Amino acid sequence: MHKVLVVDDDKVLQQSVKDALEYHQFQVEVADNGKIAVEKVYGTKFDLVVMDVNMPQMSGMEALVEMKKHDPSLIVLIMTAYSNVNDAVKAVKEGAYNYLEKPITSENLVALIKRALKARSLVETSAFSAPKISTDEDSNDGKFIGESHEMKKVFNIISKLAKVSTPVLIRGESGTGKELVARAIHYNSPRKDEKLVTINCGSIPENLIESELFGHEKGAFTGADSRKLGKFQFANGGTLFLDEIGDVSHGMQVKLLRVLQEQTFTPVGSNREVKVDVRVIAASHKPFEQMIKEGTFREDLFYRLNVLPVYLPALRERTGDIPHLVEYYINYFNSVHNLTITGFSDDAMEAMKNYSWPGNIRELRNVVEHCFIMESGNSISLDSLPAQILNKEVSVSEERSDMIDLEGIRNSVIDDLAKDDALSQYTFKFAQKDENDSVKLDFQNSKEAFEKEFISKALKLHKGKINQTALHANIPKKTLLRKIEKYGLNPKEYY
Ligand SMILES: Nc1ncnc2c1ncn2[C@@H]1O[C@H](COP(=O)(O)OP(=O)(O)OP(=O)(O)O)[C@@H](O)[C@H]1O
Ligand SMILES: [Mg+2]
Repeated sequence: MHKVLVVDDDKVLQQSVKDALEYHQFQVEVADNGKIAVEKVYGTKFDLVVMDVNMPQMSGMEALVEMKKHDPSLIVLIMTAYSNVNDAVKAVKEGAYNYLEKPITSENLVALIKRALKARSLVETSAFSAPKISTDEDSNDGKFIGESHEMKKVFNIISKLAKVSTPVLIRGESGTGKELVARAIHYNSPRKDEKLVTINCGSIPENLIESELFGHEKGAFTGADSRKLGKFQFANGGTLFLDEIGDVSHGMQVKLLRVLQEQTFTPVGSNREVKVDVRVIAASHKPFEQMIKEGTFREDLFYRLNVLPVYLPALRERTGDIPHLVEYYINYFNSVHNLTITGFSDDAMEAMKNYSWPGNIRELRNVVEHCFIMESGNSISLDSLPAQILNKEVSVSEERSDMIDLEGIRNSVIDDLAKDDALSQYTFKFAQKDENDSVKLDFQNSKEAFEKEFISKALKLHKGKINQTALHANIPKKTLLRKIEKYGLNPKEYY
């Protein structure tokens, strides 16, 4: 039951509001002026206050400010006469949720209270719901999926980290979403309209990383034929994501520590210090504690980065998220490939939940795409799953070799179609222009002949599997089925 405080010096109005709210199952207390109301709010937790503006001893405006100081989440609704609407607008600026003009009907009041309580519940839970990973509402950058308790905790930390500018170290196995977290922190922070610059420290050769990060002067080293800005300068005002930070050399670690401490650095070959305002987010799957012991990672840098650590749980530690992720990727691949796969069969989903997912979400995404290619029905069956999911004994290296090499297939389809005899013959015929009139040029007939050849070749290549053919020959599934019927082709012949 929600607890409401009604504040008005007009006893008649006070009583009628109280009656109306009690009728709607609210628990109601009353106060005759702002001063008493503030005392009550300090003594008891109310969900909501409905308050008049002009009252003796302490006005509604003053009381509002006091109440908000004590409990910023308290919802305050202001009741005001038409002539005082300006005051009410001011009150909203001070943090009142909204105002009601007198005379007040119980319908309006109750409707507004319900809306206010709903809004507050959204705000309260927002810390635990998935954060945005882009500023563009319609972007295709994807969604942050996570319904499990473990991920809600991560979302909560993200929302806290978004409010401050301290360095962050994101830790977790490969494919758990570290980069996604970095984006979520940036795009929910006050820096969201500034740049998010990413550098993968693991993939840059040791001798280049310093100039990549801090820039260099012209002639700083052989090949430096012009001045170059580094990532820290590019990210000024925004966020720099140092991915794979566990891979940087000892010398670089010292330089990074200095930027983190002083926000200044010296570009390579320069004698001038540059000052920047950059928020650093770092990520790695490396065992820092062990590296510190072995002396390969500096303890001071680790502590500097690890102010509020984010640990991403492995997928096998939050199997409850698997169906949500699967659903998300099914929708994603349906829209990318223009298919209508409805879901996984129960046994296929069970196998997905029982698997250990060493490659985490990235692997799950690949597995779902693999299934889209293998499956010829409308829902993914056990048979379409790669062997590593079905057989928990498979070692990591075997498991990789079982996975369909999607890129390989794409290329081989393209190669095959290019090599295709029927196709090249057809092109040849078409180009020959029937000098001796042996081929009559008829666009419709030629087009249909081409289509038939093309589809039958594509079906052959994909062993009659409809989804696989649609996907790789880039034909919408519906169109493919229509053409198969039109040309009297039988996919079963190609099994
Ligand atoms: N919670 C999630 N919801 C939706 N997609 C996710 C989630 N977590 C990860 N992904 C997706 O999984 C893939 C891997 O995520 P990401 O690149 O962030 O992982 P990572 O931890 O940085 O991996 P690595 O250590 O290998 O760099 C990406 O395609 C990402 O969009
Ligand atoms: Mg990554």
